[in-house]
Amino acid sequence: MSVRAVLGCLFGDEAKAKIVDVLAVDTDVVIRFQGGSNAGHTINFNNEKFVMHLIPSGIFHKNQICALASGVVIDPFQLEKEINALQAKGVSFSDRFFVDERAALVLPIHKVLDERNEQLSGDNKIGTTKRGIGPCYSDVINRIGLRICDLYNKETLKTKIDYLYKFHNIKSNIAELNVLMDDLFNFADKMSKYVVNLPYCLNKWLEEDKKILFEGAQGTLLDIYFGTYPFVTSSHTLSGGIAAYTGCSPKKIDEFIGVYKSYISRVGSGPFPTELNNEIGEKIRIQGNEFGSTTGRPRRCGWFDIVAAKYTAMINGIDSIALTLLDVLSGFDTLKICIAYKVNNKMTEEFPSQVSVLDIVEPVYMELPGWKENISLCTKYEELPENAQNYVKTVERLMGITVKIISVGPDRKQTIFI
Ligand code: GDP
Ligand code: IMO
Ligand code: MG
Repeated sequence: MSVRAVLGCLFGDEAKAKIVDVLAVDTDVVIRFQGGSNAGHTINFNNEKFVMHLIPSGIFHKNQICALASGVVIDPFQLEKEINALQAKGVSFSDRFFVDERAALVLPIHKVLDERNEQLSGDNKIGTTKRGIGPCYSDVINRIGLRICDLYNKETLKTKIDYLYKFHNIKSNIAELNVLMDDLFNFADKMSKYVVNLPYCLNKWLEEDKKILFEGAQGTLLDIYFGTYPFVTSSHTLSGGIAAYTGCSPKKIDEFIGVYKSYISRVGSGPFPTELNNEIGEKIRIQGNEFGSTTGRPRRCGWFDIVAAKYTAMINGIDSIALTLLDVLSGFDTLKICIAYKVNNKMTEEFPSQVSVLDIVEPVYMELPGWKENISLCTKYEELPENAQNYVKTVERLMGITVKIISVGPDRKQTIFI
């Protein structure tokens, strides 16, 4: 398979970055296709930990090309900070890092609007990462957004930014705007060597038979249409987004790898049928170190949910599963997996489209025996305790999709290929 995609299939933070980093060994090009610095992508190797928000997770492999496609919303200052930090660690970007000139810019005004929207929503707030993501994508849809290519037209950039403030009815401060303009031109100069018309590069790489891997951010349950709307992010996080956001024909994508955490976590507001607001949820949070990579917020934790997982596999067309953080489930007498929902006393295996329904569903559970052993040093499936194997096989059977990768710890090496 030469064109693959790694997609988060729950509420984000499924360890996509780790899986991309592991699979990047056998890849020529890694392309992020959506989201912005709301993403927090963690990679661990050689006793070092890196958390990235924008840079594709293939960057630590010296010869791999990494690109940000048109669907990514770019906070210029975050991007510059990340590039500088990685360069200081000896990571080279020359001739192998590219940004589509169409990618939209997240500007300070978008963060102000994000904060304002959340304040206005009061108790109904989404619990966004406050990285300006929603307001930036909204401006794109409103056809008033600024794109990377706009940075190279000094005459019109200021007018366009002024218009944004007028459109959103926000007072602009002339001195601050002048500083922003200078900073943006400075950024544009430094970035110019990376900025390209990406669909042409991408299709050339396809013609050259390069192995391409698309990296998703967020998760399918946070997709703007198919997630738990309105408690979602503002982009298409599912497989269908890849073509729309990159300029790669959907016909060219061979394999969709779904990343599923072995339980479920969610950060921010919104429905979560299998959430555990008790000591079990707390134990999972502690064992899984479930605190947001971007905002540090404690993540909500709960049992694995086959209804939600089968829904996301279906709408993505998932071919194989990477089951992550299995080690976190060590030490429980019994584990539970939700196999159906009860809504108003009726059983269903369909994932409801409305929050008002998701809020009242009662999960129907099956129970599985747990295991006590620490599995974080297992390197082969056969080394896993019988009950851990049984957990994996049960997920596989209920999903009807093969589990090809199991992750048993944050490090690259803590990965089992089946
Ligand atoms: P992403 O946004 O999907 O890339 O995931 P995050 O990086 O936000 O969150 C995943 C967290 O789990 C990170 O802290 C990883 O270092 C960590 N992690 C990844 N795989 C494993 C695993 O198999 N076991 C454990 N215990 N931690 C893992
Ligand atoms: P990665 O790529 C987990 C959540 C926020 C909030 C909602 C909307 O690391 O999996 P936004 O700032 O996007 O407008 O927030 O989406 N959210 C994430 N949750 N992981 C992420 O990214 C997320 N990106 C956004 O917490 O509930
Ligand atoms: Mg994350």
